Order: sequence, then C-alpha cells, then structure tokens
Amino acid sequence: MVSRVIPVSSFDLVLFGATGDLAQRKIWPGLFHRFLAGQFDEQSRILGVSRSEHTREAFQARVQKAIAEEAENADDVARFLELVDYISLDATGERGWEQLAGAVRDGVVRAFYLSVAPRFFGPIARRLQQSGVATADSRIVVEKPFGHDLDSAKALNAELSECFEEHQIYRIDHYLGKETVQNLMALRFANSLFEPLWNSSHIDHVQITVAESLSVDGRGEYYDQSGAMRDMVQNHLMQLLCLTAMEPPSKFTPNAVRDEKVKVIEALEAVPVKDIARGQYEASGDQGSYREHAGNEDSTTESFVAMKVDVANWRWAGTPFYLRTGKCLRRRMSEISVHFRAPPHMIFPGTETPQGNVLVIRLQPDEGMTLHTTIKDPGPGGMRLTEASLDMTFADSLKGSEQPQDAYERLIMDVIRGDQTLFMRGDEVEAAWSWADPIIAGWTDRNMKPQPYDVGSSGPEDALLLMHRDGRRWRAIGS
Ligand code: BG6
Repeated sequence: MVSRVIPVSSFDLVLFGATGDLAQRKIWPGLFHRFLAGQFDEQSRILGVSRSEHTREAFQARVQKAIAEEAENADDVARFLELVDYISLDATGERGWEQLAGAVRDGVVRAFYLSVAPRFFGPIARRLQQSGVATADSRIVVEKPFGHDLDSAKALNAELSECFEEHQIYRIDHYLGKETVQNLMALRFANSLFEPLWNSSHIDHVQITVAESLSVDGRGEYYDQSGAMRDMVQNHLMQLLCLTAMEPPSKFTPNAVRDEKVKVIEALEAVPVKDIARGQYEASGDQGSYREHAGNEDSTTESFVAMKVDVANWRWAGTPFYLRTGKCLRRRMSEISVHFRAPPHMIFPGTETPQGNVLVIRLQPDEGMTLHTTIKDPGPGGMRLTEASLDMTFADSLKGSEQPQDAYERLIMDVIRGDQTLFMRGDEVEAAWSWADPIIAGWTDRNMKPQPYDVGSSGPEDALLLMHRDGRRWRAIGS
C-alpha cells in the first residue's frame, strides 16, 4: 500500500499559545513531521505568538527542543526553523497587534490557531477582525474544551460567529484526526460487506471504550471542574458513537457528514441515572487518590463513567450503545466493538449456539480490526466448534508506506486545505451539550457521589452490574 502526500498551498499559520503544552507536545512536532514529508513548502510560515518576550532565536531554540525527537538531520531542522518567527503579543491589550498585522502576507492561506484558554477565543477573534489581520477566507482553529455546558458553548459560538463565518471556524476534536476513526467511515461506507448488517436486526449491542492508565496528576485543577463526562464523553466518545451510528451521508463533504452526525445526537434518548455508573479512583501503592491529584479532599467529580445509551431511530431501536471511559484503569485501550446477534438456529448437533460475531475496531494502542468468528475445531472428533479471529493490524498492512500521522498533523493540514469534514460544527457541539447537561445536572441535583475503584482495575463495580443486568459483559480492558 502506498500513501501519498498531497501538498497544501503555502500558508501563514499564526499559532496563539505557541509556548504552551499542546504546542510543545503536538503542534510543533506535527508541523515538522509534515514539513519532512514534503506536505508544505518553504514559502509557508509559522508565526508563534504568546505573551512572553522572546527573541526570534530564543523562540526557535524552544521549537527545536519540541521537535528534537523527530530531528535526525540538522539541515532539515535548520530549513524548518527558517519558517518560524515569533511575536510577543497581549491577547487582550494593545501590544503586538500592529506587528502581527504587518507580518501576515497576502496571497497565501491565513490560519489562526488558538491554543489558548477558551476565555480568550472571543477577544482574540475580535482583535483579529478589528485589526484587519483576518480576511474573509482566513481560518480560525479552536481547541477543546468548547464550553462547559450548553449555555457557555452557545456563548462561545456567538462570540466566534460575530467575527467569522461558520465555514471559517475549525473546532478540533483530535479523536476525529485518528487514523482508525476515519477507517471506521471507510469500513462502513467503502465496503458492501458490513452496511447491510449494520442495524438492530443484526447487531445486539455496541461497546465503546476509551480506557486510560494515566492519572489526572498535574492537571487535577482543570479536570476537577470537568470530570470524565465533560472531558471525554461529551466530545470524544460522542464522536465515536456518531460515526458508528450515523446514516451513510450522500457524499463525503463536510456538511453532509456533519448533518448525519447531528441527527444521531438528536436521536439520543435521555439517560436515566440507573443506566450510569460513575467512579473515582482511590489511592494505591505510591499512586495518590483522585482527590489528592485534584487537590480537593471533598471532590465528587468522576474519573470514570460508563453508561447505556439508546439511539431512538429505525436503525438502532433495541440495540444499546454502552460507553465507558476512565483514568487509572488497567491499561490504555480504546476500541469500538460491534457485537452481532447469535445465529438464529443451530444445525450442528451437540454443540452450543455460538456467541455472535464481534467486530473490534481498535483505536489504540495497536490500531487495527479484529473479527471474531466461529470455526470448526480442527482435527478429528466430529463437528465441534471453536472461536478464531481474523486479525488485521494496520501497522502490518501499511508496512512500506508512510507511517500514520498523528491526529494533530492531519487536522492542521486539513485546516490549510479548507476541509472541515473532521471538525465539529457549532450546532453539533451544542447538540452534544444538550444531551450531556441533564445527565450532569441529575448528579448534582441528587448530590451523587462516585463509587470508588482501584487504580489498575476495570472501574467500579456498578459498571459491571450495568452490563450484567442486561445479560451482557464488557470486553476486558487488558488481560
Ligand atoms: C483529552 C483529554 O482531550 O484527550 C484528556 O482532555 C485525555 O483527559 C486525552 O487524556 C486522551 O487523548 P488520547 O489521544 O491520548 O486518547
């Protein structure tokens, strides 16, 4: 298999928050990686912007540090750093804006990446507009958290749309940039094998798990205001649910895809409290408890949540989607598993009806797909059945071609191309909050406390019961 790099037009990318954590970990390495792949040329420029004062050289030295892992060839590094410049700017004051206006060029794509706290989205968008730095075809990129609830998301949308048209706004959910997430769409809509079976007549249930082994240590203050529901479910798991459940769009265009996703969110039933398990990790060994990491001894914020979600439409009525995510679990593992119904009638005497087939779409760590099937137990002894899996690890199938890109690098190149397919539309974000808000309000109103669970486990007991009650089982998080 050969993967092709399709070059993008030359651009000026203005990166607000250029010295922040996300920029250091993801954005600079991603841009360098794309540069090495030849996806953009030396006419492009990346302008780092932040409040602190740095000379161009000192800033370039920081960038060099951020890309150190990728930097094998000093010449490549030097060529890349040539494209990098720095402006010290006060997002809410006067300093730096004139310099920025003088620095951006005509005739190239202009993109503004706001890797800053959401309270700065509105002020920066306004200044970009007022100072004439933003043009009618400039793009603005914003990061999550996109709001804390429906009202704050609406307020952010309103602030942005005062200054930019919806087709200029790129709301990042980095899960949409993951290779396997897009493969889910390819699997469903570029193959004829699965789609006829992709409904409640053939699928018993779907499980979506995003398990993390990391704690919230180091970002407890942010996380405690958010919890697993706001941090992961309202956005990342919701996107996975939408792509699994949506109708085939008539074409692969941004609005056709996003229209279908919005319809899924609007079809979600309210989730009753009895269909939700909430957990919080306890201290174990030298690992502190959630409450210690959050710096809040009385915290009732959840670091784990599992729930049963019903999609009330013709395709899915009667097929629940079980969502589960949490910190400090046994292992880092993200997957979507589609559990097909068992065969309706068993023709082989003396054998039990086998389990239905399970299609597992693995997002991480080892991206790929596995189809669990039932086959004849090899050898003599009559018709005995056993389970076997058809396994496809993408890293093996893609040997020899370019390694899959990190989500951020793909998404940034899509911004330059002007392709919004993998970005969330304003109404989509609001629809997701409209669904999530009553769930969160239910916990607050009842003063509900999360159930404790051990670090390195699969989450609290209630999550297991949620499945057992329905006569089903979660797939294991690690062996
Ligand atoms: C972020 C969340 O959006 O996604 C983090 O804020 C989480 O809490 C992270 O750890 C998970 O991303 P990934 O790509 O590592 O699965």
